[in-house]
Amino acid sequence: MSTNRQPVLELRNVSVGYESTHGVVQAVRNVSLNVYPNEIVGLIGESGSGKSTLANAVMRLLRDNAFLMGGEVIVQGQNVYDLSHKELKQFRWKRMSMVFQSAMNALNPVLTVEEQIVDVFRAHHPRMSKQEVHNKAVSLMELVSIHPKHLRSYPHELSGGMRQRVVIAIAIALEPDLVIMDEPTTALDVVVQKSILDKIQELQKAKGFAVLFISHDFSLVAELAEKVAIMYAGRVVEVTDGRDLQMDTRHHPYTEGLLRAIPELTAETVTIEGIPGNPPDLVHLPAGCAFHPRCKYATELCQTVPPNEVDVEGRTIACHLYADEVVK
Ligand SMILES: Nc1ncnc2c1ncn2[C@@H]1O[C@H](COP(=O)(O)OP(=O)(O)OP(=O)(O)O)[C@@H](O)[C@H]1O
Ligand code: SF4
Ligand SMILES: [Mg+2]
Repeated sequence: MSTNRQPVLELRNVSVGYESTHGVVQAVRNVSLNVYPNEIVGLIGESGSGKSTLANAVMRLLRDNAFLMGGEVIVQGQNVYDLSHKELKQFRWKRMSMVFQSAMNALNPVLTVEEQIVDVFRAHHPRMSKQEVHNKAVSLMELVSIHPKHLRSYPHELSGGMRQRVVIAIAIALEPDLVIMDEPTTALDVVVQKSILDKIQELQKAKGFAVLFISHDFSLVAELAEKVAIMYAGRVVEVTDGRDLQMDTRHHPYTEGLLRAIPELTAETVTIEGIPGNPPDLVHLPAGCAFHPRCKYATELCQTVPPNEVDVEGRTIACHLYADEVVK
């Protein structure tokens, strides 16, 4: 893990809430995480754990009923929430971009692929000539391995995998430093999923941008990301090197449960021991560690005191089991 360079993305104690009729949904709680240049960082967690909310907070695209309750989002040294609206417009897509969850259905159905790519350049480089923009569109298509003839296609004329490649092409069109990908392959079949992941890795190496890759698919993230953050009920409970995601290394009990839930494909018998119970209500969170109602190691302390983040052999873990380790 790189620690001596300036992070592309620095999250400092970020908390995000949603106003609801039942009270404040504490969707993201005190998240601190760094993403360095050239790094692919995975963010995983069950549905509703706050992954998309965190991504939207980075892009400063929170929904109307959401608010940043605290913390800072720094991208390339710039606090995203200090930018004026005009600055933010330039900053988005040029410095940071995002492939939204269910993005392949987000392309405009009445515009051709070329028109949608052109829009991005027009918005940020109004003086670029028509020919220059067209050339850019052609090379972007080649970059994501789609024949440039499809620039004239409408989204419905493309397969799901091709649409997703177009969305990725648009996200990297202005060569941003950070690309957030929110479940970019979830709706695709396994073969297409694999080819998109290979493409993401190839593009990342060629262009050198950093990626925050969001998924609820643990094995997929483990394969792709060098560093993995595991989110539970709005909190990042562990940050680990992707290579350390094995049962024989010490982890947060929730990570342990996720690891056990991955079927061992090479084993003769496949046993999937999931995590019993359900994630908590984010309006009325359990006191102490939010995982305690589901944790087999929970003690009285866990029911009352939230655990600190500690350093366990290079991994950051928020759990009282590791109370003897150094607090971060
Ligand atoms: N507009 C909203 N108003 C109120 N609560 C919301 C809103 N959007 C999301 N939430 C709640 O915030 C929490 C986090 O949601 P979020 O979409 O960030 O989770 P996620 O990890 O991305 O889930 P998924 O894997 O299903 O995409 C959930 O409890 C969700 O119900
Ligand atoms: S702090 Fe306690 S309840 Fe929470 S994960 Fe650790 S052992 Fe389990
Ligand atoms: Mg989501």
